[in-house]
Amino acid sequence: MTAAGPVVAFYDTHPINEDQILRALAARGIATDALTEEVLKDHDQDHFGGIEANDLLIEAAGIRPDHIVLDVCSGMGGPARYLAHRIGCRVVGLDLTESRHASAQRLTALAHLDHLVEFRLGNALEMPFADASFDIVMGQEAWCHVPHKPRLIAECARVLKPGGVIAFTDILRRAPLTETEMARLTSEMTFPDLETLDGYARLLAANGCTLARRDDLSELWARILIDRLRMYRSLGSDTARKFGTARSHQWDETYAFFVERFASGGLGGGRFIARRTG
Ligand SMILES: C[S@@+](CC[C@H](N)C(=O)[O-])C[C@H]1O[C@@H](n2cnc3c(N)ncnc32)[C@H](O)[C@@H]1O
Repeated sequence: MTAAGPVVAFYDTHPINEDQILRALAARGIATDALTEEVLKDHDQDHFGGIEANDLLIEAAGIRPDHIVLDVCSGMGGPARYLAHRIGCRVVGLDLTESRHASAQRLTALAHLDHLVEFRLGNALEMPFADASFDIVMGQEAWCHVPHKPRLIAECARVLKPGGVIAFTDILRRAPLTETEMARLTSEMTFPDLETLDGYARLLAANGCTLARRDDLSELWARILIDRLRMYRSLGSDTARKFGTARSHQWDETYAFFVERFASGGLGGGRFIARRTG
């Protein structure tokens, strides 16, 4: 269904990784055997806006303790753990990259949340779940990597129970991008294709999901990303030590290019909350 190689390589050499999280915790004097979700939650979220963004999604989706939630493209599991810890619900995380999947499992065990949170290795375009398995399907800043959005949203709707809620944020195409810009985003950020605000709204409707809310996050993210570039620059020597100087330099150039696309208006962000009514 998809050539997974580039996205897996991207996340296998990502500056935010398990080793980097554990080093940051150690620098705060926190031993792994004393780790709690209260502490971990501030180090393991790989999306924009930190915990505040999770809270907005949780509230807008109306997630309750009796819900079973699927996090599609769950990465190292930060949002899944936070959600399970805050609400007490069960969460399943699905991710394609083996290194992310393994980190998610290890960090969840360290935070003593494996009774509520489990992870599956698999592709969002061919989810290993039966129809109508989940009350909530969520995702944060990850579906931009998935090559076929109609198939992705159809899979999300398929595994959602009737009456269930799909709640996600994603990186969007906001204005036309040049061929060169899109080629760089594809090869360097592994965004094979980007949806628009209207495009996701149409896909949700076409899959029997009634939009309850959609928010344009473009201006907010343009500001957040300036700080995020600064954060990545502060990790530069860490990234070079782990993945080599070339990767560290390449990341810096790529991320600066990415952030600049937000400033110039070509890229944006959106939050979508929709209920499966069809
Ligand atoms: C930005 S990270 C996710 C971060 C997570 N939402 C968080 O906030 O911490 C994106 C993740 O999407 C995963 N991914 C990309 N394409 C995928 C696909 N087709 N199926 C499943 N996972 C995928 C990558 O392996 C990566 O771990």
